[in-house]
Amino acid sequence: MMPFPSLFRRHSRGSAFDAQRAALRTAAEFYPAPLAVAREMLELAEVSADDTVYDLGSGDGRIPILAAQEFGCRAVGIELDPKLCKYTLARIAEYGLQERISLRQENFFEADLRPATVITLYLLGAVNGQLQPRMASHLRSGARVVALEFPVPGWRPERVVPVRSENDVGYTLYLYRRR
Ligand SMILES: C[S@@+](CC[C@H](N)C(=O)[O-])C[C@H]1O[C@@H](n2cnc3c(N)ncnc32)[C@H](O)[C@@H]1O
Repeated sequence: MMPFPSLFRRHSRGSAFDAQRAALRTAAEFYPAPLAVAREMLELAEVSADDTVYDLGSGDGRIPILAAQEFGCRAVGIELDPKLCKYTLARIAEYGLQERISLRQENFFEADLRPATVITLYLLGAVNGQLQPRMASHLRSGARVVALEFPVPGWRPERVVPVRSENDVGYTLYLYRRR
């Protein structure tokens, strides 16, 4: 997959990375998962062509695009920011993935999550906590949730997995499964 240069922020060791983490703590602003880490999220959830992956706060669309391109599944991106939605729609068209990916300019707190078999989250822990009751009521048995860096409060992860980005930055993934 081609990179998304105009919207990428660099992931590196040291103070820039620390500043980015601090920014993520204060707001659910756009902050992309490194592609290698996004791939690990989908692998951890054992995504197959039968799955429907929802990325809540889909940013530049990299997780839905990766899921559709490399895992052959359906994917839904939910993103409030119109600029990011426009960018994502252009990428979806560029890769010819319109049949597999739906992008919704929508508030994820109000989204219908019932069709999801996998949900990916790269959001603040507090936001994951606010989403938790909705995920608990909407998701069917067997659905998986993978949270990057920030766990879902109140849920016990089935697995906690350290991963590294292409720039060798360490992250933690949390896998949850709906019983
Ligand atoms: C940390 S970024 C993660 C982007 C992408 N999921 C990734 O991993 O590369 C969080 C995204 O959530 C979006 N967002 C924040 N609040 C939202 C809301 N209530 N509904 C939909 N999207 C939201 C932001 O605009 C931002 O793009």
